Amino acid sequence: MDEADTLLNTRYMFLTTRDTVEKGWLNDFLDHARTKVIWITNERQFMETSLLRRFSYSLHFKKFTGRERENVWINLTAKHPLRRFLTRDVIRNLAAKYEVNAAGIASALDAVKSILPPKNANEKAVRGMLEELLTRHEELIGQGFKRPLNPLTDRYDISALNVDVEINLLLQAARAFAGRDSKIAQEERGSLNLLFWGRPGTGKTEFVKYLAAELGMRLIIKRASELVSCWLGETEKNIRDAFDEAEREKAVLFLDEADSFFVNRESAHRSWEVSQTNELLTQMENHQGILICCTNLLYNLDKAAMRRFQWKVEFKPLTREGKVSLYQKYFGPARGKLTSKQKDRITGINNLTPGDIKAVWQRYRFSSEKDVSHDDIIGAIEKEVEYRGESPKPKIGFGPC
Ligand SMILES: Nc1ncnc2c1ncn2[C@@H]1O[C@H](COP(=O)(O)OP(=O)(O)OP(=O)(O)O)[C@@H](O)[C@H]1O
Ligand SMILES: [Mg+2]
Repeated sequence: MDEADTLLNTRYMFLTTRDTVEKGWLNDFLDHARTKVIWITNERQFMETSLLRRFSYSLHFKKFTGRERENVWINLTAKHPLRRFLTRDVIRNLAAKYEVNAAGIASALDAVKSILPPKNANEKAVRGMLEELLTRHEELIGQGFKRPLNPLTDRYDISALNVDVEINLLLQAARAFAGRDSKIAQEERGSLNLLFWGRPGTGKTEFVKYLAAELGMRLIIKRASELVSCWLGETEKNIRDAFDEAEREKAVLFLDEADSFFVNRESAHRSWEVSQTNELLTQMENHQGILICCTNLLYNLDKAAMRRFQWKVEFKPLTREGKVSLYQKYFGPARGKLTSKQKDRITGINNLTPGDIKAVWQRYRFSSEKDVSHDDIIGAIEKEVEYRGESPKPKIGFGPC
């Protein structure tokens, strides 16, 4: 019985129910059916519990992980007339970028086949058309556009970070965890939960990318807009699916702006906020991989969540040395050496973050070095900090930054 949703979904949203006779008939049918019936359905959440318990066996076809999707792409393109334009790299990228199921992939490939005659095709045209079709498909089925993370900046400077833990120890612990022997009993392997917190622009997100690259692991980022749903129980399911996907893919799960997930249960007014936080805590306790959460608002986080993070790392504004070294990473040496006066001006900027330096670099990156001097840039950085409502002028008698 394919597409059995209309028959089985006896419980509708807003908790209204259909005719009970119909429900009774269905239960009776399942109890007394003499033939074997295989029911195929898309949804389970609108079925009555009394109905669910009547199935002798159930099989959940989970959402594909990126790697599984890549295999589907490989199978579906094996006999495609345009397969020579679909190289492994193209397929890997499409599989990672579009979270589309097998039917969506097949339909996009069919459409490209009928629109593009092989004699007019080339890699760029095939790829471009597939991207267009898959983007529309994701939009149509309500997945919307998921903003991917920018790649790790090639100007990344780990030594510039100002954090309150020994960063090498953290890297060592993460490497040891990632390389742990898969033969170790599951309960002994456990999870590695990291919390990065601190002011905006201090380098939390960039460090997550650096860490995943160091570990050679894929990064799965989930934002509140993707997981939080208005449907009863759906957010909890999305949270479970996110952990499950990361575990199957052996990827690092990254929850950015984690305060929107971990609503402090003491101040939560709505029951769904409490159950969403509960689900997260349960998953944190039981998953077998690496979870990283970032937030600016540490004190909004649920207290019970805190002890489930084995590492809590504060990201702070740059130190005096960090300020100069990161400045040079972005703006030197094409504009010549910094004078000691210019260095003093840079180290004198209070609460300077990598984000401020990066913002000014993005403004001037296409300008010629002749047109924009170190003094212009330092002035622009001072203004950038001022825009955050913080004085760029040195505070007398204050600590290292
Ligand atoms: N160590 C670093 N070396 C070079 N650039 C860096 C470094 N850390 C961060 N950056 C750059 O600074 C910018 C801000 O960093 P990031 O986005 O990681 O800050 P954040 O702490 O996550 O901020 P928010 O709390 O607002 O999300 C990014 O564009 C990033 O590329
Ligand atoms: Mg961030």
